[in-house]
Amino acid sequence: MIEAEQTGGRGGATRPKEEHTPLDVSRLRADEDIPFDLYVKNDDTYLLFRRANHPLTVDDLRAFKAKGIREFFVDGKGKKNLARFLALELAVRLKDPSLPLEEKAIFLMEASRIIMDDLFAHPESPGTLEQVRNLVEQTVGFISSGRQAFRAVIRLCSHDYYTYTHTLHVEIYSVALARQLNLSRSFLQKIGEGALLHDIGKALVPPEILTKPGPLAPDEWAVMKQHPQLGIDLLAAQGPLDEVTRWAIIGHHERLDGRGYPYGLKGDELALPARIVALADVYDALTTNRSYHGAVRSFEAFNIIKEQMRGGVDADLFRELVILMARMDPDW
Ligand SMILES: [Fe+2]
Repeated sequence: MIEAEQTGGRGGATRPKEEHTPLDVSRLRADEDIPFDLYVKNDDTYLLFRRANHPLTVDDLRAFKAKGIREFFVDGKGKKNLARFLALELAVRLKDPSLPLEEKAIFLMEASRIIMDDLFAHPESPGTLEQVRNLVEQTVGFISSGRQAFRAVIRLCSHDYYTYTHTLHVEIYSVALARQLNLSRSFLQKIGEGALLHDIGKALVPPEILTKPGPLAPDEWAVMKQHPQLGIDLLAAQGPLDEVTRWAIIGHHERLDGRGYPYGLKGDELALPARIVALADVYDALTTNRSYHGAVRSFEAFNIIKEQMRGGVDADLFRELVILMARMDPDW
């Protein structure tokens, strides 16, 4: 059975916990209000470059370009404001007709990663669902704008694995699959939210289990298997949870043959959102690099799913995902 969490949920390949988050210079515009301190890196030292709320000028930006400075850094204190800033900025940039699609896709993925990083760091802070809702709205809008846009995002999905990029990939595949099935825009929105949050319960799993490099002991595995329910409990404390979103989270490790977890649900007991996110989760687990296996190409991933998960995943959805990816990736 293919499982995304066989050797500890982050597979030992989590992005190292960096106190400072890199931010590409091109994300900032002249004269706009920047609500966090900006640092530059000199060898291993971070030097304060500009205090929060002191806008950059056109001359500043020109000087960075001339000096070859490509990125700033934001310290731990500024991360929450950075996430908020990027969420607002994202809505503006995705609508900017002068920005090439590839740039928009990179901005979407980078902003999403930083926003999810913040959510995983503070999963219990109020407003988690609101933040995710806004992010998914942007993602659904972008993916729905056409095949070229989806292709630009997909190109960014197939590299190294980190926890937050995994959740983004699962979101993108789930939304795209739902769109392929001609499901409503509101379904796309809700499944996107569930997919982004599908592993939020891992924020409550002890780090020694989550980051354990080897296989988990049976008692550790039992704790790990709780993460879908932990995620539901966490979000339910913030208000009512939509049914599509709830199924996406609780059912992403369930299998149609009853061999999944946490409840061993089978067949008709499993609602469509659970089936979609489960397939997207497995597909991304196979097509990205993890500590315990290298990435395989789409074609090979589909063969593995077919051989090892016959009866576990929804055959109709599987077929749709094959069609979708074959269209997107001509040299799969
Ligand atoms: Fe999971």
